[in-house]
Amino acid sequence: MSDAYYIEPVEPVLRRFVEDFRNIVARERGKSGLLDALKAPTEALLYDPSWITEAFRQPVPDTTASWAVYRSQDPDLCIFSMVVPAGSMTRVHNHLTDGWVGLVQGAQVERKYVRRDRGDREGYAELELLSADPIRLGELTWLKHPDEDIHQVVTVSDTPSVSLHVLCNDLGTVERQSFDPEVHGVENFISGYTNIAGGAGIGKP
Ligand SMILES: [Fe+2]
Repeated sequence: MSDAYYIEPVEPVLRRFVEDFRNIVARERGKSGLLDALKAPTEALLYDPSWITEAFRQPVPDTTASWAVYRSQDPDLCIFSMVVPAGSMTRVHNHLTDGWVGLVQGAQVERKYVRRDRGDREGYAELELLSADPIRLGELTWLKHPDEDIHQVVTVSDTPSVSLHVLCNDLGTVERQSFDPEVHGVENFISGYTNIAGGAGIGKP
C-alpha cells in the first residue's frame, strides 16, 4: 500500500501515529472500538503540536482552509489541519466517518447538530441544534457517523483557529453535505484540500 505525506520533514511523532493507526485497524477491523482505540495515539500526536508548521496554519481569506498532512491510499485515514479565519465560521456540515479533532491554535465554539428527517426529500433537511460548546486549546472532540457527525465550527479568537483532523476516510474527496438549518437546506459538496490541486488523485479508485 502506498500513501502520501504532504509535510516536510515527516516528524517521528507523525510517522509513529500512522503506524499505530495501521496496527489498530488490523486489530479492530469489523469491531466498534476503532475510535476509542485511536484516542491515545491522537493525544500523543498532539501532545506537542509544534510539528504542525506555519504553512499548515495559514488561513485563506473568507474560506476554510484544509491543509492535507497525510492521506492513505486505502482510503481509510486522512490527517489535515483546518484553518478558520478570525471572525469566520464553517458551514454546518457532515463528514460521513469517525475521527478525532484537536484544537492546536486559537479558540473555537463547536455547534453540534442532529438530523431529524429521513433524508428522502431532495434538498431538504431538518436539523436540531444539540449543543454549542467552547473548545479549549488541546482539547479533543470526536466525530461519529451517523449520530454525531454534523457540526459547525466558529472561530472566536482574534487569530485564525487551527484544528488537526484525524478522520477514517479521505475527507477532501468525499461527496458529503452542508446544511442551512434556518431554511432546511442541504447541498452536496466535495471540500478538496487547499494544498492539492483538484483534491483527488490518491484515495480515489
Ligand atoms: Fe467538521
